Amino acid sequence: MIDYKKVTGEFDLTGKSAIVVGGAGGIGEATAEMYARKGANVAIVDLKDTVTDVAERIAKEFGVKTIGVKCDVTKQEDVDNAVAKTVEAFGEVNILANMPGFVELENAEDIGIDIVEKHININAVGVFRVCQAVANQMIKQGKGGKIVCVTSQADFIAIDKHVGYTMSKAAVVGMIKVCALEWAEFGINVNGVAPTVVNTYMGEKAWQGQVKIDMINKIPAHRFAETDEIAAAVLFLSCDEANMITGEDLVVDGGFTIY
Ligand SMILES: NC(=O)c1ccc[n+]([C@@H]2O[C@H](COP(=O)([O-])OP(=O)(O)OC[C@H]3O[C@@H](n4cnc5c(N)ncnc54)[C@H](O)[C@@H]3O)[C@@H](O)[C@H]2O)c1
Repeated sequence: MIDYKKVTGEFDLTGKSAIVVGGAGGIGEATAEMYARKGANVAIVDLKDTVTDVAERIAKEFGVKTIGVKCDVTKQEDVDNAVAKTVEAFGEVNILANMPGFVELENAEDIGIDIVEKHININAVGVFRVCQAVANQMIKQGKGGKIVCVTSQADFIAIDKHVGYTMSKAAVVGMIKVCALEWAEFGINVNGVAPTVVNTYMGEKAWQGQVKIDMINKIPAHRFAETDEIAAAVLFLSCDEANMITGEDLVVDGGFTIY
């Protein structure tokens, strides 16, 4: 059961323990900052060497406890280590923001199967590996928890040259629904946030020149999203304010998928 808790609309996370996978940059770093601003202790988990630098900066700025853990989500031992280190540092895990990401664009008739598999291994299987490890920790704790995976507008609409990426993100939508169904009895909410193009390393890699101009013209808001706008949606789904939302994939796309 996911219990009713009286909420205030303050989105308070004081004393909670959060893991942000993909937290050393882009949307993940913005999410980690927002969690810290709301009082959560945060583990920055990422492939990048800069995990500790990011963690130290956030601790200094927001006065919460943080750790940085280097982790490749395609490796089970790395994921288990990240969960263990978080429990060691903060005592438990209450929130997971799960957003490691890989994209490489190619036409469906030309894309290498190895590149398709890389998308699936990081964006889908890697994301599930983290969900499973964290959910087992949450189940052991017996206090429920919140899991939010960052998916994509590609869940809802076909985007040119995005076949590998879309296959991986669509898999996560299915995973979110099944995990939400199975883990509700443990008080765990599982949701997705599906952004349009966001101004990050990944956003810039995929959208340059004329395709960028054409894409912006198709978005009713007439711009790409900023990282804090996506982090705010992740924060909402990480709080008791969203206790009655589970199995959802919340679009944050400036209206792009209205069409
Ligand atoms: N930027 C966009 O336009 C956009 C749009 C929709 C969805 N997204 C999704 O948002 C999420 C965050 O991406 P972002 O835009 O902040 O880009 P980003 O490149 O800044 O962040 C992705 C992070 O994932 C980490 N990562 C990659 N492979 C990993 C692995 N194997 N193990 C652990 N960490 C790994 C990277 O080091 C990086 O810090 C991704 O899941 C991405 O698919 C991004």
